[in-house]
Amino acid sequence: MSKTLRLAILGAGTVGGGVLTLLRENADLLYAQTGKQFVVRHVVVRDLSKPRAVSIAPQVLTTDAQRAISDPRVDVVLELMGGLEPARTLIREALLHGKHVITANKLVIAVAGDELIRLAQKQRVRLLYEASVAGSLPILTALQGALGGNRITRIVGIVNSTTNFILREMEHAVEAGEPAEDAYANALRKAQELGYAEADPTSDVEGYDAQYKTAILARLAFLQYVPVESVYREGITHLSGRDLLWATRLQMGLKLLSITERLPDGRLCARVHPTLLPREHPLYAVRGAFSGIWLQGNGFQEMLFHGFGAGARATASAVVGDLIEVARHPRPLRFEDPSLRAGETAPLETLSMRYYLRLTASDETALRLVRETLHALGAELHPAESLANGIEQVALTPMLNEGEFQARLTALRQQTGVQIQVIRVL
Ligand code: NAP
Ligand code: HSE
Repeated sequence: MSKTLRLAILGAGTVGGGVLTLLRENADLLYAQTGKQFVVRHVVVRDLSKPRAVSIAPQVLTTDAQRAISDPRVDVVLELMGGLEPARTLIREALLHGKHVITANKLVIAVAGDELIRLAQKQRVRLLYEASVAGSLPILTALQGALGGNRITRIVGIVNSTTNFILREMEHAVEAGEPAEDAYANALRKAQELGYAEADPTSDVEGYDAQYKTAILARLAFLQYVPVESVYREGITHLSGRDLLWATRLQMGLKLLSITERLPDGRLCARVHPTLLPREHPLYAVRGAFSGIWLQGNGFQEMLFHGFGAGARATASAVVGDLIEVARHPRPLRFEDPSLRAGETAPLETLSMRYYLRLTASDETALRLVRETLHALGAELHPAESLANGIEQVALTPMLNEGEFQARLTALRQQTGVQIQVIRVL
């Protein structure tokens, strides 16, 4: 058996750089655990002249991805470039060349995972993607291994570190009496500098990144293929400092949550949206650039994974973990991945939950109709407050059906002109 595992790394940015660093720093550990030396044959980038955080031998650095993935002296291709194309095509071609593939790319795995997983199976090679969901947290490995003997009933997660970091910085600003909008912009810039944000951070702040991760997580937890478009998505861009202030007043935390649950009728409902959660919830303590995944299963009852969900070293930790797995078990199992089974999903409109509403109106008259409607629905109304831009009033509803309630709110907005901010409560 060969004593080396030869690698082609596509991408030497945040994650690629982190992987090169860990491979160097921990070479002895990796050898001890696998009996193999990991040798980097190619590092593929776009721009050869760009300064790099890690030193890369010039004979290894290349822009020729085709040569790297087809090189017969390469055993494993690590796709760490991001984006849909050319990443998807390169992964497919690498598999066709008989290479194992490890990727951190949630977009590719969420939209084309089914095709690529089947192809890897057919080619009798491994396709692993632990780093694609929540950085260093070994959640996908756990779901397919140590926790596999459980029927999972619910997964609630903070799976995007950038937005969790931004919300924390906004909260700090509100506590200090500073503008939350400035804190938002500064925190996003910092998240980009620290390598947490996606190349296009719209993916983070509009919830797409969390939507892709939710599709992957839900598929492996509930053993059912989950199309990305079936995952409801809402980002954080419409939240304001007033919402964070109210979260504190109501003794709750405001987070962008990924929630997937099996409904009593057997359908799966997966969603991503800002959510108010009580202080007692284990995810309340997951702050800043951390990720957290809390899940329930019929054996272990409940469990929390908490750690760095982004950044060079944290993400590299998951990629290198996948490399160890490939070194130890280079052949896939001989049956179809159970997470590719077809199953029904349910839209968000089928659910019932509680809502936080923040009403803003220019005067009392406009507010009255909304207030009366909410009162009739059994909502708890907090006293109205006069602000520079009008009157503000906050309400908390009892459990209501999403579809019916949202239709009601749309009608109320049209009739009254009152601005209604809606945040779901866990
Ligand atoms: P990044 O810093 O932007 O690095 C991307 C790297 O890929 C760069 O080295 C870039 O080359 C190279 N690249 C991009 N397109 C290429 C192309 N068409 N041909 C050749 N090289 C190309 O991105 P990243 O943050 O490391 O993220 C990489 C992947 O990991 C993404 O899928 C991301 O979603 C995922 N991920 C990231 C994190 C994180 O914390 N950053 C965590 C988990 C998962 P140049 O350097 O020459 O531009
Ligand atoms: N942009 C992602 C995040 C990187 O902030 O969570 C980790 O997947």
